[in-house]
Amino acid sequence: MSAVNVLAVYGSPRRKGNTASLLREAVAGAREGGAAVEEWVLRDLKMSPCLEIYGCKEDGRCVIQDDFQKIYDRMLACDALMLASPMFFYTVSAHTKILMDRCQSLWVKKYWIEKAAFGLREPTRKGLFISVGATKGKKLFEGVMLTVKYFFDVLDMEVWKALLYRGLDFEGDVGKHPDYLEEAHQAGLELARTVGNTK
Ligand SMILES: Cc1cc2nc3c(=O)[nH]c(=O)nc-3n(C[C@H](O)[C@H](O)[C@H](O)COP(=O)(O)O)c2cc1C
Repeated sequence: MSAVNVLAVYGSPRRKGNTASLLREAVAGAREGGAAVEEWVLRDLKMSPCLEIYGCKEDGRCVIQDDFQKIYDRMLACDALMLASPMFFYTVSAHTKILMDRCQSLWVKKYWIEKAAFGLREPTRKGLFISVGATKGKKLFEGVMLTVKYFFDVLDMEVWKALLYRGLDFEGDVGKHPDYLEEAHQAGLELARTVGNTK
């Protein structure tokens, strides 16, 4: 049986911020569960936003030659994805959104080239989404969950779990909530085990 491959994507511009701390815990948990985890920090990649030229219409591959090409291959190859982004204006960070928009190439592949029927292709992989926001409103994560659902969909992934935390603003705030960090650790562990059991 081959190891479970998990991709962990850090979407915050802060290297030691709240979502990064939570994702690091999830990574540790997934490793404890036996997964091989690859970590990508989006702020380290040189990625253009989607330019809407639809070069991807040929074969579903984006034609802009930059660091997206590297992470694209890893996203297709993994068994599960763990994505962490802070809430910026009620959605994901710009770094994360650029990655998502470049995956329009996968939307084109799935729905135009392969002609999948909307909502009918069963997800084959699992995604964990981690986010935090400074405020405490009930609707804080409503919009972003739609964004994440449809992003995971182009990767044939279901939103397996979302860990969403309110009231965290300054770097290090999450450190005051060991229960959140433990929950992230357990989520990574459970994800690795769940995927491992179906491999
Ligand atoms: C550009 C920007 C936009 C933000 N927009 C929101 C927002 O819409 N709602 C919210 O609750 N917090 C918002 N915040 C606060 C961040 O979500 C918060 O500081 C979070 O802890 C940052 O996570 P990180 O440490 O992982 O980067 C915003 C912060 C920035 C810098």
